[in-house]
Amino acid sequence: MADTYNIASARAYSNIAFIKYWGNRDHLLRLPANSSLSMNLSALHTTTTVRWLADMAVDSLTINGEAPTVAALRRVQAHLDMLRRRLGTTLRAQVDSRNNFPMGAGIASSASAFAALTMAAVAALHQQLSERELSALARLGSGSAARSIPGGFVEWRFANTHEDSTAETIAPADHWHLVDVIAIVSHQHKRVGSTAGHASASSSIFQSARVETAAARLKEVKQSIAQRDFELLAQVVEADSNLMHAVMMTSRPPLFYWQPLTLAVMEAVRGWREDEGLRVCYTLDAGPNVHCICAADDAQTVADRLSDLSPDIDILRSGVGGGAVLLPPVVRGRAACTK
Ligand code: DP6
Repeated sequence: MADTYNIASARAYSNIAFIKYWGNRDHLLRLPANSSLSMNLSALHTTTTVRWLADMAVDSLTINGEAPTVAALRRVQAHLDMLRRRLGTTLRAQVDSRNNFPMGAGIASSASAFAALTMAAVAALHQQLSERELSALARLGSGSAARSIPGGFVEWRFANTHEDSTAETIAPADHWHLVDVIAIVSHQHKRVGSTAGHASASSSIFQSARVETAAARLKEVKQSIAQRDFELLAQVVEADSNLMHAVMMTSRPPLFYWQPLTLAVMEAVRGWREDEGLRVCYTLDAGPNVHCICAADDAQTVADRLSDLSPDIDILRSGVGGGAVLLPPVVRGRAACTK
């Protein structure tokens, strides 16, 4: 069915990992070295509209209304090629993707981007897949995107096959009112992205130790979430982030994402928790910005403290987000009719 009405829009939320995904057992299929766990971020989302067309020679992409970089276009086209093979179509796609958060803020957008792209692309072909199937397909575009399909607190299991390495909700968004107060210490685009980092992870002598002990940390984080035990969560989340960065720093070539202000925020967060009893802990992705995970009641105090720490820190704030959802299709700002 090659008409102009093969169109759908989807929204997916970004996520922050408590137990990190770092390194793959299969790079092509993005089968991770270890299971990971994250919470979706309600304030940071990507909305993507996909329109499949018969009369186009190549896929097209706009990000926030503008032409993408060559690298971004290639990555999206590769994902669309994979979707075409798996969903059985030869149509080309017109993709419009919009983030509601600043692009240059060093906040990962690949998780929400590939989750929204996958959900919209499948729906625009009028195919109905399960959450598990959507999660697996999103994973092929960006590993962490698997975790942005289900809602709330999400576990992504490692497995040896494409079908089995999927993510699912372990607790809904309203189970625990945590807030991620993100301290943006640098707006610079990272020089080495996650995909290259996953490829070099096994060159660190610490990666096997991190992977072997990940299941025990995952169990503790799941327990801390089930019991809303902030102190346990804090201990494990900080340890897991530190371990991932230890692997990064000792990989060949080494990856140093921390900047002086990164370390200052990490130190301050530990002090606020240990000396003053604020319920806050830190975790970092593949970048210098610090995600300060807080109990909701302490989030404003943490945001104020971060602002006092340095005028160079910008702050984003988010609660726990739901799963990816379909929206009424939108074309250039206007609602489109569907057939
Ligand atoms: C450090 O999912 O961005 O944020 O699969 O290559 O797109 P690709 O990698 P990506 O890796 C995320 C790494 C991390 C940790 C995490 O989110 O678990």
